[in-house]
Amino acid sequence: MELNNNSRVGIVGLGLMGSSIATALLINGQKVVALAPIISDTNQTAPDRIMHSLEESYREGLSTIPAKDLFQNITFTSDYADLKPCWLVMECVLENLEIKQDVYRKIESSVSNKVIIASNTSAIPISMLQNYLRVPQRFFGMHWAEPAYTSRFLEIICGEKSPLEVGEQLYVIAKNWGKEPTLVRKDIRGFITNRIMYAMYREAFHLVENGYATIEDVDRACKNDGGHWMTFCGLFRYMDLTGLQAYHSVMKGLFPELSNQTTVPKLIDDVAKEGGNGISNGKGFYDYSPEEAKEWERTFEKFSFDINRLSLEYADKTTDISSVKVKK
Ligand SMILES: NC(=O)c1ccc[n+]([C@@H]2O[C@H](COP(=O)([O-])OP(=O)(O)OC[C@H]3O[C@@H](n4cnc5c(N)ncnc54)[C@H](O)[C@@H]3O)[C@@H](O)[C@H]2O)c1
Repeated sequence: MELNNNSRVGIVGLGLMGSSIATALLINGQKVVALAPIISDTNQTAPDRIMHSLEESYREGLSTIPAKDLFQNITFTSDYADLKPCWLVMECVLENLEIKQDVYRKIESSVSNKVIIASNTSAIPISMLQNYLRVPQRFFGMHWAEPAYTSRFLEIICGEKSPLEVGEQLYVIAKNWGKEPTLVRKDIRGFITNRIMYAMYREAFHLVENGYATIEDVDRACKNDGGHWMTFCGLFRYMDLTGLQAYHSVMKGLFPELSNQTTVPKLIDDVAKEGGNGISNGKGFYDYSPEEAKEWERTFEKFSFDINRLSLEYADKTTDISSVKVKK
């Protein structure tokens, strides 16, 4: 395996995440080959979206290089042969096994056996996906969060056949991309964050479907409790900060009462079956006029830059606290 991160990174699939990851890589000095087999993606949607996020990143001070200069470092293509100069190819296509399998076959037939291939899958086990490859040990999960250029999150996941030492090298490279990465040393479905987030989603549906609270109140509670401290620290640090004895005693009574439903909740099933997709088509758990949808999107983008700044400021402060402890 050759981790020559001076060469290019390939991205296959230029939807929401592929475009966002391309921006994250460009503003951190990585050259990108962006491939979308569906021609409309490479025509204008993806380049426009990437240009917009590069411009916003420059305007917000996340990048010091003007968008049009960074844009020189990305090439768009629909030909897999153009992935040849890449040291890493990241797959960002739909969460569909057959499509992903077909994409891996095409990538492997275009690049050398030394090239790393990674998937941005949200929850398909990496050990399952890597069996679709001719060279399974070159395969890793690289799970980004949206927006990839403002979030400091990046999960590197080793499958059963992925060498841990290569995972550790990817972890170091991810730090150079401005991330605060996590390494999942042993594959598990949902990795770290989606296991935690989906446990929360399940409980949220349980509360609403059983009439304990409205959708609005569940959202408000999440924003103002977890949302208040989670960018500052994780769950374990928070228990330390606020007294872990209380958590110990609450768990005894509460854990047996939490939802352990194993089927998809009716509330999301109904919306999904009617074609609802949230702000992208105005129909979700809330309804959106086109203007409201645009405003939510714009405000979330602005918030993402602000929270990134705050998170970086406090990352430095908390690193200083740890080094004070080390000095003693
Ligand atoms: N949306 C998120 O917040 C998020 C977060 C983390 C991970 N992911 C994962 O990232 C991946 C992409 O998600 P997204 O949100 O960008 O989806 P998306 O629908 O915005 O984009 C998917 C892309 O796949 C392309 N595609 C469809 N069929 C294809 C084919 N046969 N060959 C090649 N490309 C094809 C589409 O053209 C589209 O550009 C999924 O695996 C998803 O689970 C998404």
